[in-house]
Amino acid sequence: MKEILEELERRRGIAKLGGGQQRIDAQHQRGKLTARERIDLFLDEGSFEEFDMFVEHRSSDFGMEKNRIAGDGVVTGWGTVNGRTVFVFAKDFTVFGGSLSEAHAEKIMKVQDMALKNRAPIIGIYDAGGARIQEGVAALGGYAEVFQRNVLASGVIPQISVIMGPCAGGDVYSPAMTDFIFMVRDTSYMFVTGPDVVKTVTNETVTAEELGGASVHTTRSSIADGAYDNDVEALLQVRRLIDLLPQSNTSPLPEIECYQSVTDVDSSLDTLVPANANKPYDIKELILKTVDEGDFFEIQASFAKNIVCGFGRVEGSTVGFVANQPMVLAGVLDSDASRKAARFVRFCDCFNIPIVTFVDVPGFLPGTAQEYGGLIKHGAKLLFAYAEATVPKLTVITRKAFGGAYDVMASKHLRGDLNYAWPTAQIAVMGAKGAVEIIFRKDIADPEKIAAHTKMYEDRFLSPFVAAERGYVDEVIMPHSTRRRLARGLKMLRNKNLTNPWKKHDNIPL
Ligand code: HXC
Repeated sequence: MKEILEELERRRGIAKLGGGQQRIDAQHQRGKLTARERIDLFLDEGSFEEFDMFVEHRSSDFGMEKNRIAGDGVVTGWGTVNGRTVFVFAKDFTVFGGSLSEAHAEKIMKVQDMALKNRAPIIGIYDAGGARIQEGVAALGGYAEVFQRNVLASGVIPQISVIMGPCAGGDVYSPAMTDFIFMVRDTSYMFVTGPDVVKTVTNETVTAEELGGASVHTTRSSIADGAYDNDVEALLQVRRLIDLLPQSNTSPLPEIECYQSVTDVDSSLDTLVPANANKPYDIKELILKTVDEGDFFEIQASFAKNIVCGFGRVEGSTVGFVANQPMVLAGVLDSDASRKAARFVRFCDCFNIPIVTFVDVPGFLPGTAQEYGGLIKHGAKLLFAYAEATVPKLTVITRKAFGGAYDVMASKHLRGDLNYAWPTAQIAVMGAKGAVEIIFRKDIADPEKIAAHTKMYEDRFLSPFVAAERGYVDEVIMPHSTRRRLARGLKMLRNKNLTNPWKKHDNIPL
């Protein structure tokens, strides 16, 4: 018996070494952890239960029959994050560069199926060279099986991808269909085709970092939702995100003890909006003063900074925040901001996370660049996302809510549940200058008349009261009471029950 047990330990020891000590050392020299080190760090200590440690590929082409390594380049299983079950797979770069074979794909499919069946989040950690070249179509088929499962799980369980090394070819599309992608600066990159192929096809010379590094994907392409300095930081931040998310679309939101009273008055909010309506202020200050203990997990912080999206808690329960940011482009809605926020709103709606929207928006961004770039379609995405969302929707207009952007930003007309405005709110078709120049064009040469018209317009329209008179704003609230009002509203809306008409699925403008 002793020998049998020792044999198991010996085989386990070999499997755990993956591609061998030399390749593990090379991984460390590049500032990267190994697949197992990543999983151990990510999960609660000692909670990892591994599957399929002894799986090997079945290929015999190109001398592969003599080249089999237990585990076949991916470590899979389940464990817990702060006590809650998650499924995980991590590509092992030390084994055939983490490339995907038929057997490797089957290991991933097994945890995908288990995660979906057991309604728990799945996290994929990437460090890999794409399809196993020696396996040809068997590898391509394996990818498609993984993709299919990504799609079936979308909106049912949270799916998160963490890119911690190369991620090329077939490896990019599974992350692309998950809910969030996080990258590690300087050691990770994602692209469909690498620099060599780019050079051959387009004659462009570009480095891997320039083509698909974390800075490209967090600031330009918006493929990634965040980037961190190293593996450890990235994995700890993903744990933080998981703590905020429900296990599935039918699970309750996670609740934690809230140590910060919601009745404390923060009078600094009464002076957050500057007297001059053209002066910016930082909307994140309002978010940080609304969430419990100032703890806010921002999504896509470096992309389309004119809108802020992220998760926080109010009285211990998760809330999604969307806020126009007056500090960047005056908080205007453009194509990028619309797409960013639309995807976030849809994620919240999938997983029953209430949405709080802070509005200070001068409108949609005019210009040929925006129109040619499809502003109508991208703006419609956000409009569509808010309109279809059935989760509790609470809106606070802090200052400008002009034009179509007023409608889009979770207005009463899009089934907003609680629509509040600060006394500083200005709800109108447009600002005073533009409005007066159009409706009093005949007086344009007379500065005195224009000044009088402007004053009249400002007094009548640049306030929350015209909207409040119609019930489009439920209440004009004191800025210092925002956290209390939202906390009470969120509590009142906990049993909200609203469903859209049955359909196979909608046809959101993509
Ligand atoms: C088999 C692979 C491999 C692959 C890497 N390796 N990629 N083996 N299939 N796709 C092996 C290498 O042979 C090497 O083995 C080990 O992994 C480490 O690779 P290196 O090249 O030494 O490492 P590095 O210099 O860090 O470069 C990493 C890399 C590079 C950038 C990922 O290996 C690379 O470009 N690989 C090919 C990427 C690619 O084109 N993949 C196919 C994409 S097409 P030894 O034994 O020497 O250590 C695709 C189609 C799917 O994925 C489409 C579905 C939609």
